Amino acid sequence: MTAPTIVSVIGAGLMGRGIAYVAAVGGAQVRLVDVDAAQLEDAVARIGRDLDAGVQRGKVDAEVAHAARERIRTTSTLSDGCRDAALVIEAVVERMDVKHEVLRAAEAVAAADAVLATNTSALSITEIIAALDDPSRGVGMHFFNPVPKMRLVELVRGLQTSPATMDRAEAAAQAWGKQTVRVEDLPGFATSRINALIGNEGMRMLEEGVASAEDIDTAVKLGLNHPMGPLEMGDLVGWDTRLKILEHLESTLGERFRPTNLHRRMVAAGRFGRKSGEGVHRYDADGNRL
Ligand code: NAI
Repeated sequence: MTAPTIVSVIGAGLMGRGIAYVAAVGGAQVRLVDVDAAQLEDAVARIGRDLDAGVQRGKVDAEVAHAARERIRTTSTLSDGCRDAALVIEAVVERMDVKHEVLRAAEAVAAADAVLATNTSALSITEIIAALDDPSRGVGMHFFNPVPKMRLVELVRGLQTSPATMDRAEAAAQAWGKQTVRVEDLPGFATSRINALIGNEGMRMLEEGVASAEDIDTAVKLGLNHPMGPLEMGDLVGWDTRLKILEHLESTLGERFRPTNLHRRMVAAGRFGRKSGEGVHRYDADGNRL
């Protein structure tokens, strides 16, 4: 199974630009598509800086970085960006209607056997790919932030996804140096579900006064060998985003995902985490812990 040569990434935000980076370094001709021209410009500049940083840290060969830059083309026209693509990965906003619209438009112009992937973190893959004329070519490819550094891609099988589509999505992710796992299309997949549960328990422990926030994070980091504590992780994800995830998981998987009152009050107060300067912990304008 070979890696796809023409890869279209729709959405040039946080995730799309990371996916474009790994696909280009992995040898694909990448077309990065976004409705917002300023986002495209910003994405190219950031990818350039990330490649430079990769070279400096010895993670990327200088020639590979140079070639990767040359392989990324940007466009605001989806039909242009997805024409003849072997693999399309959408990373647009987390809205079902927008995902339906972009994947249907991509399907109309991509190669006849193209794989059509979504990077959704929480929506149903089965429901997203139901909009396609041929949903057997639809699949979830769940990358993690920051994409160049995070090693996992969760491959999510929708009810209609064919075995060949799973194999081709897996081949692409592995060719780009990622480790893959295969999961069924159930809410929260394998990762978001566990992460939300651990974070929710951390918040419940804070609410009950089990220990200080600092000590809860330290206990989990040093005692359980997690790279981050559950409360600093929630600050990174954003408690507003985490609340939406928990509400979705509570409605689909049940009571054990019910958000705490403390969590709801923090969101009401605008204490979203690192991005707002304060969550459980406090941060300066560059996102460093105070
Ligand atoms: P973002 O807000 O940074 O980027 C979304 C981009 O999509 C924006 O640049 C926007 O202009 C563009 N866009 C919106 N509508 C469009 C359209 N019709 N055609 C083309 N471009 C369009 O969002 P982010 O964080 O990159 O998330 C993207 C997807 O990845 C979401 O589905 C999210 O759930 C998922 N995801 C996010 C993770 C994260 O840590 N932020 C982790 C894993 C998945």
